[in-house]
Amino acid sequence: MSFETVNRRGFFKGAAGFASAFALQAQPRPIPEVRVGIMGVGGRGFGHVRDLVALKGVQLKAVCDIVPSAVERVQNAVEKAGQARPTGFTKGEHDYKRLCAQPDLDAIYVATPWEWHVPMCVEAMKNGKHALTEVPAATTIEECWQLVETAEATGKHCIMLENCNYDRVELMVLHMVRKGLLGDVTNAECGYLHDLRGIKFEDRSEGLWRLNHAMRRNADLYPTHGLGPVAQCLNINRGNVFDHMVSMATKSLGLREFASKKFGADSPRTKIDYAQGDVITSLIRTRGGQTVTLVHDTNSPRPYSRKYMVQGTRGLVQKYPDPLIYIEGKGRQHQWQQLLKEYAAEWEHPLWKELQEKAKGAGHGGMDYVLNYRLMYCLQKGIAPDMDVYDAAALSAVTELSERSIASRSRSVDFPDFTRGRWTRREPLGIVTA
Ligand SMILES: NC(=O)c1ccc[n+]([C@@H]2O[C@H](COP(=O)([O-])OP(=O)(O)OC[C@H]3O[C@@H](n4cnc5c(N)ncnc54)[C@H](O)[C@@H]3O)[C@@H](O)[C@H]2O)c1
Repeated sequence: MSFETVNRRGFFKGAAGFASAFALQAQPRPIPEVRVGIMGVGGRGFGHVRDLVALKGVQLKAVCDIVPSAVERVQNAVEKAGQARPTGFTKGEHDYKRLCAQPDLDAIYVATPWEWHVPMCVEAMKNGKHALTEVPAATTIEECWQLVETAEATGKHCIMLENCNYDRVELMVLHMVRKGLLGDVTNAECGYLHDLRGIKFEDRSEGLWRLNHAMRRNADLYPTHGLGPVAQCLNINRGNVFDHMVSMATKSLGLREFASKKFGADSPRTKIDYAQGDVITSLIRTRGGQTVTLVHDTNSPRPYSRKYMVQGTRGLVQKYPDPLIYIEGKGRQHQWQQLLKEYAAEWEHPLWKELQEKAKGAGHGGMDYVLNYRLMYCLQKGIAPDMDVYDAAALSAVTELSERSIASRSRSVDFPDFTRGRWTRREPLGIVTA
């Protein structure tokens, strides 16, 4: 990797860049009534709409999708929730630019296919709005830098909506890490292990775009659900950074075998030479001396898992298939204890404790509600959100880094330092509340 890629040209390029980097750190302005727009209202976008209309101090004022019926569905849902009908934007792939120009918006959600996240976030920020994007925020390192540089230049937030950071067990583990129960954290395992073969071959929703990426790229295309919560435990970009990584891919069999069963051996979809290996394994080392094993496995038959194991000098926790914990000196030596049964009363994260009733019935076991609640709360109060553009970039960079490492016999690749050295001075995220 070139020096240029790692360190990027622009930071001290001129006074504007220098001043804007400070703008990003400035105290955010409180927005008591957050006026929101949303772009892309398929499965995921509509989930955000449901959460947002239930929140106090949030108005959904604009919606954009290339499918007019999807926009109408949102307009009807917002009206039904007692708010004014949001403006609809349905005039094709670039109509999002008109939404971004709408003056009465503070923040814009982006829940479109991956290739649209960066152009849409950049347009939102350039139009003076905070950009809140679905995962992954970007698909290349160049795109990661675009997000960082635009956020710095405009002073706007660019936040990746990593909902898994707000799941009950992940929050509980973060709480334990903050209070030192696991000792010094040394090692973690995580990933996204989800049989998506059926979804990838559907002629609707994600089937229309997700498979294209797996056809072209032998990479970990979806690193953030596992890595997001681990990064918070390791204080990434806040006293620590991802340093370097090696990746390896298995051969690619799952998609072709699935296509053959579904469409027949002679189908054009069966004959495609899919680039992506069935299982991609990456090993990351942080500057702080921890290791993280990250797995991407979406082309094989298997039960869902994000692994989620965090280990320290005093013990370890793992989430899948059932949440278990071992802490030296507690319970029986060498034997797991049940995390939820034996530790939740003492170690439940305050944020989860406060929001669990309201989150009941919301998407992904409630974590989607907690994410949206906390994000809107931070904007309303003018406090720094829990995740920022540097997190979005560091986590999303894994895709291209894994691709490069795999393509060069697992050569070690360096993470860019998107904070340009400021990670040494940034405080770790505290134990946040509602
Ligand atoms: N965090 C999570 O748990 C989670 C879960 C599912 C999906 N996602 C992410 O959410 C995003 C969307 O996924 P999805 O499952 O909703 O996909 P989807 O295909 O169901 O929805 C995408 C929507 O974007 C619209 N769209 C496409 N191009 C557009 C454009 N140029 N302008 C406006 N609208 C456009 C489509 O018409 C569609 O309605 C992806 O980034 C995905 O990775 C995250």
